Amino acid sequence: MSALRSMRTSYQKRPSGRLVSQTIPLRVRPAGGEPARDAPEPDEDPSFSLALSLPDRRPRGARLPMPTVALEPRYFDRMGSSLGDKARMVLPHLRGPLVLDVGAGGGELTAAIAGAGFRTSALDAAPDAITRLTALGMLHEVRRGYAEQVPQLFDEPFDTIVVSALLHEVYSYGTSPNTEPILRGYDALALTVTRCRESLRGRGRLIIRDGVMPERPTEPATVDGLSDEDVEAFHDYLRRSPHPLLRALHLRGRSLTGTRHAVAEFLLTLTWGIETFPREALERYQLFTLGGYSQYAGDLGFDLVHSEAVTQQGYVDALSCLRVTSGDRPWFPATNGLWVFEKRSTS
Ligand SMILES: C[S@@+](CC[C@H](N)C(=O)[O-])C[C@H]1O[C@@H](n2cnc3c(N)ncnc32)[C@H](O)[C@@H]1O
Repeated sequence: MSALRSMRTSYQKRPSGRLVSQTIPLRVRPAGGEPARDAPEPDEDPSFSLALSLPDRRPRGARLPMPTVALEPRYFDRMGSSLGDKARMVLPHLRGPLVLDVGAGGGELTAAIAGAGFRTSALDAAPDAITRLTALGMLHEVRRGYAEQVPQLFDEPFDTIVVSALLHEVYSYGTSPNTEPILRGYDALALTVTRCRESLRGRGRLIIRDGVMPERPTEPATVDGLSDEDVEAFHDYLRRSPHPLLRALHLRGRSLTGTRHAVAEFLLTLTWGIETFPREALERYQLFTLGGYSQYAGDLGFDLVHSEAVTQQGYVDALSCLRVTSGDRPWFPATNGLWVFEKRSTS
């Protein structure tokens, strides 16, 4: 999930008057029979308390597609559409000279980093992304691989590692399908953050830009005024989402009620349009609250330098036909978080 800033320009009016994004289905390649591990249980890992005990559990035997590696051109267009917002959030916090962009996608942010004068390398798991990143012709090194493989793939330590809209995909799709054990959920996240830390020099920085869970995520929220298309999308979303916590939503007529977390995830997914649900409904976008991520990375050896939650106006505009409330007041979830960490010295 990503994009905004120019997202409004990519919206079209539906007959109902609702703005919907002009995205098309993404090709999701299901795993070739790879067994999916259940997401870890809450009480197996104390860090779950940081996510307010909201880990997802799949029913035993449930399978998830492996990470998508066949990405269509418009997927890249969409990732690039919020470059202004990404660059505004990320660039001021970079420290050089060596920067690595992990899960770099089409490379818009990567190019902006390189253009700002940093010696910039990129990593992505998708071959299509590697083609685009290489074609930029301005990067120091481009590697294909999985985020937890950073120390194996790059010799030199970095001054800053950027993970923009990556960690929720690591959580949702897991670590490399070619390396046993395949980890998912918070296990995959912990391994990835730990490996990134290994590849940072001195007080090197880890910059995370990703979804942010609403404060007080278990409190109820309500969405009123759903259209027929929204109701259809809701049922499709419920069928596809592998995350029980995100399916904790109840529809009565045209009114939807659930936790603030589940409502926020559904609303943000809805803005992408039902056509994208084969991919987007598989993903859990919000892994921690603003403070929760800080604490989580703190436990993994990082000190927080800066954090912020932002609500991108394009999402607000796209959902303006709906009335969203929590605690009987108008409410709208933050759409992105930024966390800037420095590696804590172990000595
Ligand atoms: C939503 S895009 C974000 C792209 C870019 N960072 C941005 O902010 O626009 C996520 C990218 O991460 C890549 N990706 C997903 N899981 C990955 C993993 N475990 N290791 C490396 N890349 C991964 C995908 O191929 C995709 O290009």
